[in-house]
Amino acid sequence: MELRTLGKSDVKITPLGLGCWQFSQGRGLVSKFWPVLETQVMDDIVKAALEGGINWFDTAEVYGGGNSERALAGALVRRAVKPGEVVIATKWWPALRTAASIGKTFPARQAALSPYPIDLLQIHQPISLSSIEKQALALAGLLKDHKVRSVGISNFRGEAMRAFHRVLKEEGQVLASNQVRYSLVDRSIEADGTLAVAKELGITIIAYSPLAQGLLSGRFHDDPAALKAASFMRRQYSGLNPEGLKKTEALVRFLQETAKKHNASASQVALNWLVRFHGDTVVAIPGATKVKHAQEAAGALQFTLTKEELATIDTLSRS
Ligand SMILES: NC(=O)c1ccc[n+]([C@@H]2O[C@H](COP(=O)([O-])OP(=O)(O)OC[C@H]3O[C@@H](n4cnc5c(N)ncnc54)[C@H](OP(=O)(O)O)[C@@H]3O)[C@@H](O)[C@H]2O)c1
Repeated sequence: MELRTLGKSDVKITPLGLGCWQFSQGRGLVSKFWPVLETQVMDDIVKAALEGGINWFDTAEVYGGGNSERALAGALVRRAVKPGEVVIATKWWPALRTAASIGKTFPARQAALSPYPIDLLQIHQPISLSSIEKQALALAGLLKDHKVRSVGISNFRGEAMRAFHRVLKEEGQVLASNQVRYSLVDRSIEADGTLAVAKELGITIIAYSPLAQGLLSGRFHDDPAALKAASFMRRQYSGLNPEGLKKTEALVRFLQETAKKHNASASQVALNWLVRFHGDTVVAIPGATKVKHAQEAAGALQFTLTKEELATIDTLSRS
């Protein structure tokens, strides 16, 4: 897979990384979206991602209170991956905390991911007891001390992203990325200016939930009974319900039709569109609970959508 530069940092990533929320192993509220995976399954998913050419992994402190970070690092160690051979992105959880906690909790993040260095440290979401300025200064401190290679934010909208970027710039540092929900069924970052600000400032958009948590794979359209097996939280959050299926029927059927022509899957067409439609600005981090998911993600750029296909997907997803 080709490499892209993460924002204006020196970190190089493949357009598709692996999202590791699914490695939370049931601990904490946000883990309840996903089943508890066996260590062997997570190891095999990481192996499939690496073998398919994916060079980076997204995790977070809040994904099982470090469980996901530890599962990822363990899988990489068992695969004999050397520190520095892959890119690791994690996130600090800001709610009910001040910016001082960024530095205080950093050693715990390093320990959970050991022996792998943290290449990208992100603020998980905008709600914090500290201002944007204080959080940005704390991240700038980690950059100056060479503790992380790059820094980013997540779930920040246009002008808040601009403000974060400004503080880092004044410190001689760059805001590399903003990780936001973005897929063919949620294009709000286009409407609210977030994508435009990212393009203007050279900040990479990391698209999370790029498959709308499985909705875009078409598997629920083909077998609506499968909706019952998805967790309650996921059904609420991702439109995994009869109405959501109805709204996306035409789009998903076109993804499936297009996939057949390219000997691919609907998920691969959705990922291909997402990381190609806006040039180099958008990269994506699909999550996986099965080896096949990671294999499909890794193979999602092995074909080229025609201009007409890109445009039809665009139109159907807007309607
Ligand atoms: N920053 C944030 O606030 C934030 C929020 C959400 C997510 N994230 C990050 O983004 C990553 C991805 O987001 P996400 O997990 O919410 O959504 P996603 O990647 O859109 O959906 C992942 C789910 O889709 C299904 N899937 C994946 N590949 C498939 C394939 N090829 N065929 C059929 N089904 C497939 C699987 O569902 P089943 O398990 O049911 O098979 C998988 O668990 C997370 O792992 C996390 O790292 C960040």
